[in-house]
Amino acid sequence: MLKTQLCGIKLKNPLMLAAGVLGSHASSLNWILKSGAGAVVSKSFSKEPNDGYRNPTTVAVEGGIINAIGLSSPGVEAFIDELESVNRIIGKSIASIYGANPEEFAYVAGKVEDLVDIIELNVSCPHAMEGYGASIGQNPELTRNVVKAVKEAVDIPILAKLTPNVTDILEIAVAAEEGGADGLTLINSLGPGMKIDIVTGNPILANKFGGMSGPAIKPIAVRCVYDVYEGTEIPIVGVGGIRNYTDVIEFLYAGASAVQIGTSIMYEGPEIFGRITSDLEDFIEESEFNSISDMVGFAHKE
Ligand SMILES: Cc1cc2nc3c(=O)[nH]c(=O)nc-3n(C[C@H](O)[C@H](O)[C@H](O)COP(=O)(O)O)c2cc1C
Repeated sequence: MLKTQLCGIKLKNPLMLAAGVLGSHASSLNWILKSGAGAVVSKSFSKEPNDGYRNPTTVAVEGGIINAIGLSSPGVEAFIDELESVNRIIGKSIASIYGANPEEFAYVAGKVEDLVDIIELNVSCPHAMEGYGASIGQNPELTRNVVKAVKEAVDIPILAKLTPNVTDILEIAVAAEEGGADGLTLINSLGPGMKIDIVTGNPILANKFGGMSGPAIKPIAVRCVYDVYEGTEIPIVGVGGIRNYTDVIEFLYAGASAVQIGTSIMYEGPEIFGRITSDLEDFIEESEFNSISDMVGFAHKE
């Protein structure tokens, strides 16, 4: 009943693991797939290894968490070993990649194209080093160029993951679509934000600032999906603060064809996938809808 598809890739359900949470190793990616996710997205990785920021890299706050991992990555060669061991029979595998320029993105994408079903381009990390992440995704021209280079380099579908930290997310979404993106993932973490330890007077994160995720950002994510659905033709993957099946329904109604879950896995564990799929099935059974695709964009009706 929950079967659907994204960019021509069949999914047993529309729920996916979001990039960066339990996504560094095949063992945890397979654990998430066995827990019921339709697809998993790896942690973002790059051409060369990158240590990322010192600890502490995450801190809990009201309504979610703030993280500044700094795009730590073992490099594509090491990540290939992990991707080779992901069980693509029980669910789909998506590689999240990043780089400093179109050539680096295209190089990394080409290296993993045969090992995954979809590639997601992280042009949206809010706490990346200068020249990476959101500094690409806040600029329509740079975004278009990165997407175009990857599109020319690989034959599998590509998703551009965008940042909400812009004046007009639709402008960036349209640039990604023009570059050839097959779909869009909305949104990466919001911010940057910060938390200060009132005993020591110091910022808690080693990087001082980080991206906010979790339930508090959901209304912004839903609005981004709603806005972008109105102005683009390609499918959208909604992400930001999902905890329950009702949140999934909101994203679908706003225009998402599938959704991703990150922070809530830290609260509940991978069991969240089984719980939400079962609740979603019950909802559809009792509703006027016959499928997930019937629900996509329902909030845009006249
Ligand atoms: C600890 C942590 C690490 C993350 N790492 C990545 C990453 O490597 N690449 C990326 O595109 N997004 C990353 N994200 C962002 C998530 O994929 C997601 O877009 C965001 O957290 C909002 O969803 P959520 O509220 O369900 O967590 C990370 C989020 C968290 C909390």
